[in-house]
Amino acid sequence: MKIVIPGGTGQVGTILDRALTAEGHDVVLLTRSPRGGRQVHWDGRTLGDWAERIDGSDVVVNLAGRSVSCRYTPPNLEAMMRSRVDSTRVVGEAIARATRPPAVWLQMSTATIYAHRFDAANDEHDGLIGGDERGVPGYWAYSIEIARTWEAAQEQAATPRTRKLALRSAMVMSPDRGGVFDVLSRLARLGLGGPVAGGRQYVSWIHEHDFVRAVRFLIDRDDLAGAVNLAAPEPLPHREFMRELRSAWRMPVGLPATRWMAEVGAFAMRSDTELLLKSRRVTPGRLTDAGFTFHHPRWQAAAVDLTARRRRA
Ligand SMILES: NC(=O)c1ccc[n+]([C@@H]2O[C@H](COP(=O)([O-])OP(=O)(O)OC[C@H]3O[C@@H](n4cnc5c(N)ncnc54)[C@H](OP(=O)(O)O)[C@@H]3O)[C@@H](O)[C@H]2O)c1
Repeated sequence: MKIVIPGGTGQVGTILDRALTAEGHDVVLLTRSPRGGRQVHWDGRTLGDWAERIDGSDVVVNLAGRSVSCRYTPPNLEAMMRSRVDSTRVVGEAIARATRPPAVWLQMSTATIYAHRFDAANDEHDGLIGGDERGVPGYWAYSIEIARTWEAAQEQAATPRTRKLALRSAMVMSPDRGGVFDVLSRLARLGLGGPVAGGRQYVSWIHEHDFVRAVRFLIDRDDLAGAVNLAAPEPLPHREFMRELRSAWRMPVGLPATRWMAEVGAFAMRSDTELLLKSRRVTPGRLTDAGFTFHHPRWQAAAVDLTARRRRA
């Protein structure tokens, strides 16, 4: 297949590109800073020569968006919104104008679209979209606003010959440097991987291999469209999630952190506590109903696999 991945130079793009290229597909990445023959320049906002790569392709997977690992200041939140909505809109324009549009457009979204909750899991059918929760910082609602506007930009695109899917993905876990598993592992190995703010908040995650398998499944299954959750079936409280990670690294100590300590740590890491404190309890309703099975359904075994591969690397 000819596969175009706008925003494919980041963490998730590296995982997808590696797997799809190894399978023999012809993969092209759209980036603002191209390096090498398979990377093509675009600005993420306006149509250009890059659109010719979309015309005649089989699949588009748009991953572009300013990293969410930053302080949630008004300018950063604005950049997170604009980069996602503008890139989705312009990918839709390119598909709409194509003489031979792709059969399927997978658009990244996020599991963060669901409400901060503890009582039950969010699937696509019964899940609660967030934004109205009480007792959480007001700015958390903006992340949900970003996710909704992002999905709406894809829905509004006039691409009648292209099937559209929005990937409501949880954190994608791979042993690569700089990814979320790497960051959490570093904390765990320093003895700092204890529960944060009590650790009741749920963590949703997906192993990189299942992420790639789910993408391939969704490409193949032409009866599926719309929003799909990409998350392992058993999200778990942060306290247990970190305990399993420490155990996989054989680190006996995991200092707990209060909310206030997390604020200081997030500030030092130029990140935001929403990424740690929001309860993300998301399950893969539509994937499971469609017959998808996970190779890595449980965090304990996934963490052992990821740490072993990280050690070997
Ligand atoms: N990582 C996860 O676990 C996860 C989970 C759920 C959802 N997501 C979402 O999936 C997408 C990819 O995630 P990721 O972890 O791979 O992110 P990433 O490592 O930050 O990469 C995102 C890519 O987007 C491009 N980009 C950044 N700012 C842009 C802008 N202003 N305009 C156009 N392109 C821009 C960058 O490409 P260039 O700099 O090369 O142009 C970058 O390689 C993101 O939208 C993220 O929110 C990620």
